[in-house]
Amino acid sequence: MSYTYNDEVINEIREASDIVDIISDYIELKKTGLNYKGICPFHNEKTPSFVVSPNKQIFHCFGCGEGGDIITFLMKHRNLTFIEALKDLADRSNIILPEGNDDAGKKKYDEREKLFKLNREAALFYYNNLKSNKRALKYLKSRNIDFKIINKFGIGYANDSWDDLFKYLKEKGYEEELIYKVGLIVQRRDKSGYYNRFRNRIIFPIINIRGKVLGFGGRVIDDGQPKYLNTPDTPIFNKGYNLYGINIIKDNRRYDKAILVEGYMDVISLNKYGVDYAVASLGTAFTENQAKLLKRYAKEFYICYDSDEAGMRATDKALEVLYQQGIKAKVIILPKGKDPDDFIKERGKKAYQEAINKSLDLIDYKIYMYKKKFDINKPEGKIKFTKKITQFLKKMKGSIEFDVYINEISNNTGISVDTIKNEIYGYRDNNLNKSYKDKYSKPYFRNNIKDRIKPVEFSLEPGHLTAEKRLLNLLLQDKNIYNKVKEEFMYMDFLDEDNRKIAEIIYKKYEKSEVLNIEEIIDELDINTSEKLRNIINLVSNDDNKEKAIKDYVNRINYYKKKIRRDYLKKEINQIKDKTDKSKGEVEKLRVLMMEYVQLDKELKVNH
Ligand code: CTP
Ligand code: MN
Repeated sequence: MSYTYNDEVINEIREASDIVDIISDYIELKKTGLNYKGICPFHNEKTPSFVVSPNKQIFHCFGCGEGGDIITFLMKHRNLTFIEALKDLADRSNIILPEGNDDAGKKKYDEREKLFKLNREAALFYYNNLKSNKRALKYLKSRNIDFKIINKFGIGYANDSWDDLFKYLKEKGYEEELIYKVGLIVQRRDKSGYYNRFRNRIIFPIINIRGKVLGFGGRVIDDGQPKYLNTPDTPIFNKGYNLYGINIIKDNRRYDKAILVEGYMDVISLNKYGVDYAVASLGTAFTENQAKLLKRYAKEFYICYDSDEAGMRATDKALEVLYQQGIKAKVIILPKGKDPDDFIKERGKKAYQEAINKSLDLIDYKIYMYKKKFDINKPEGKIKFTKKITQFLKKMKGSIEFDVYINEISNNTGISVDTIKNEIYGYRDNNLNKSYKDKYSKPYFRNNIKDRIKPVEFSLEPGHLTAEKRLLNLLLQDKNIYNKVKEEFMYMDFLDEDNRKIAEIIYKKYEKSEVLNIEEIIDELDINTSEKLRNIINLVSNDDNKEKAIKDYVNRINYYKKKIRRDYLKKEINQIKDKTDKSKGEVEKLRVLMMEYVQLDKELKVNH
């Protein structure tokens, strides 16, 4: 028996999903006017007659007549049941579905609905407070915020009171526990009761694409501390998954532009001047999930953070996060010390539009950034600049832009294309040497190889790679596993270069701390490797017995290592054998190799 979902849930999921985004995962779509077109997956055709409408959120094929919404599409194309398609969509949008036919899932869902309602109630309460509070209104006025904007963003004010909202909500019949759960109140230290989280602050409700109030940001109106206070993570609010202003972008600008800014006031101020497509990442580093969310509502992306050192670093990070989502964002540069709010207030919309027009793409931004950091007119600065920029280019190797980028850097800096290329390929060689060294230091090879044997290139088998990945997945889970593994299996023992890189970081981090912060690991990896890490994290583990799983994986990896070694020996042996006049040394070498080969072959057969 399965749970039947009510229409509200189904609509919520349907609305949270974007048909173009999802169908693009399966079929190549091209924009034609308002719609998107592609080759129909439901019948045979050469010219596209399959049309997707982002506005109506439906698809229709003029060739075969198939059509429907995103749920129908998934059911037909992937052969899913209604419920399966729904679950798939819910997962993508981070909506928690009432699970199964048990009451627990339904209860969880109902509770979330109640939390949304509570927040809506609170938002209204704050909004009404604001209207009658002269001081708060005066502050907003000083910041150029009028009633139109107040209404548009639902801005409010939390009175300087320990319990007015708390009492109000209780009188309305809400349970203390829920008011606490949604983050509106804070528990007293002695646990004797609760008090309002937000006091004497301007309130910015954070609203999702479905118009639900997830949480709040509150700004002091004097120079109290902290300047901003936010709802903590709750069952309905997770900072890394949401963007301030996304509700407004969604209504205004489907498939147009989006500007990523730092703060609430930036979004609001830009909006007031008619730049109504900005969103803020809520005071945290821009995350992968935020990028995925944003991707659904725009086609052109800009980043406009502060121009100080921290802002530049955050920009660089956001560029990479967006790039991983296939988004090539541009960077809008503002004069030092100005955020978008300051800038547009002082200089107006036209000047901001000019700044948008002059925005820098990825490579130009890198050049700009490193030029700021290093003085390329001095030899030392030039070397550092080249090192930095080539480190970045190295990640782009194989991309279409690669050569274009090298030329652009050369033009911009006067550093010759050859110098840049040497730097890049020289770097690669260094890395290769390092990996050879690592190979020699592996315990297995350490025991068996004498240095007269040359390293050999090998290709890894799928079984081996899977075992390495699964072992990494286990290692990521907790330090106890690491403690068990580290003695017998070092990071150098991972044969795949990327896995080894990931392992090295994991091992080093565990030596310094108890828990791993995935973001920190990703920070140290290039785009491709961090993508691999993500796949590793997402591996579904069915290892109930972890100790046994560790042993299995280590054994499997060692088994493949031996195989690689055996194949290598075989090649060496044959080479020497083929020689007609073998030297004394070679005869001796052959004997040693043969001994090792026979031994290995025996072990492999026993083990398998
Ligand atoms: N922020 C936060 N907590 C803080 C400080 C900042 O959550 N203690 C977040 C807020 O989302 C804020 C953003 O980081 O909007 C940017 O912070 P900041 O640049 O300090 O503030 P502004 O947005 O410039 O705010 P204002 O113009 O009101 O000073
Ligand atoms: Mn500001």
